[in-house]
Amino acid sequence: MGVGEERRARRIHTVDDARRLARRRVPAMVFDYIDGGAESERTMRANVEALAAVEFVPRMAVTAGTPGPDLTTTVLGTPLALPVILAPVGFTRSMDPAGDVAGARAAAAAGTVFTLSTMSGHPMEEVVAAYRDRAVSADRAGAEGRGGAWFQLYALGGRRGAEQLVERAQEAGYSTLVVTVDTQIVGSRERDLRHGASIPIRLDPRTMVRFAPKVVAHPRWLFDAARDRFHFEIVHASSLGGPDQPLSADDALIQWVLSPVTWDDFEWIRRRWKGPVVAKGVLTGADARRALDSGAEAVVVSNHGGRQLDGAPATMPALVEVVDAIGDRAEVLVDGGIRRGSDVVRALALGARAVMVGRPWVYGLAAAGEPGVSRVLSVLRTGIDRTLRLMGSPSVQALDRSWVRVPDGR
Ligand SMILES: Cc1cc2nc3c(=O)[nH]c(=O)nc-3n(C[C@H](O)[C@H](O)[C@H](O)COP(=O)(O)O)c2cc1C
Repeated sequence: MGVGEERRARRIHTVDDARRLARRRVPAMVFDYIDGGAESERTMRANVEALAAVEFVPRMAVTAGTPGPDLTTTVLGTPLALPVILAPVGFTRSMDPAGDVAGARAAAAAGTVFTLSTMSGHPMEEVVAAYRDRAVSADRAGAEGRGGAWFQLYALGGRRGAEQLVERAQEAGYSTLVVTVDTQIVGSRERDLRHGASIPIRLDPRTMVRFAPKVVAHPRWLFDAARDRFHFEIVHASSLGGPDQPLSADDALIQWVLSPVTWDDFEWIRRRWKGPVVAKGVLTGADARRALDSGAEAVVVSNHGGRQLDGAPATMPALVEVVDAIGDRAEVLVDGGIRRGSDVVRALALGARAVMVGRPWVYGLAAAGEPGVSRVLSVLRTGIDRTLRLMGSPSVQALDRSWVRVPDGR
């Protein structure tokens, strides 16, 4: 963790600042891999617009003299210092060499959950160890929450590959398995296509020459990536890669595309995992019920940040539908478009137990490594605290629909 990173991180006052700094630090094809969505990016924009449409119903003059609002909560029984979980993001090592290790450490320091993507450039054992080390030192320093490390599963290599990944994640000590169900195939990310990049960048001699003009304009990124030997491949075991053989980004992509998960697979995976299983990527009450019937303990209402089916519903109205369908039986998480602490409060008031953030933490990572991720989490934390104080709410757990008004009058 360099002094330069610390200095850059201090320039982040909003998630949008992190986005701007990230755009400057990493080459365009890496930035667009993070920032882009599928096709016309309608769903990606709709996530943000739906959040903006949720108005607060504040209660004035009720909190004088009381201590600051309580931001702690629990998710699946695990205490969190704040209701913001780091969503699984693939190929983070192309954004910064510390990638998921940096994300895990920043989450542990903040007392929240880190979710490791199957598409990681770091071995899952290394990431969970980094999480634990940092959590221990945070604990000694009197941190509030505990959080934990979750593993997100893509069934690379079909059931055989999934079984290997699940066993390995269990052995490594991940507490919760997140099974992503919205990735039947990969959505058309047109910005990536225009760059001519396969996810997110392949540095063989031919592409090096093609990307050279874009890359040399970002010397700091180039220096870091070169020192990391352009280590962008996916390291996890699969039935094709073998336990110790890293998969190239292309091989991982091929296996991913060939291995969509069905609810049958979900039940099969459920039987193999000893802790809680979360279904990520449901958008309707019917699918949420299906997830619970298939053994999920919780669901994440998600459209993959608008990166899959363009035209899929924004996540806030979908959250309302899902909470109405299963909110009395299971915890509901949500992601998509959360950019401020006030957005977290909106989602919680609509019934989410906690939110996940994807782009915000990787903007921080691409902007300034681990300090950048920590800074983004602290910006969100301050924003939640400020919003609750201005609304007159004593805690995140006190939020319900009486604190917000949404366009259809609910
Ligand atoms: C660059 C990038 C890579 C992603 N990779 C994964 C992944 O490997 N697995 C997964 O389940 N979701 C993945 N997602 C989706 C996120 O987990 C999350 O659902 C989404 O980013 C939430 O929207 P937000 O970015 O607006 O917060 C990815 C998202 C981004 C931006």
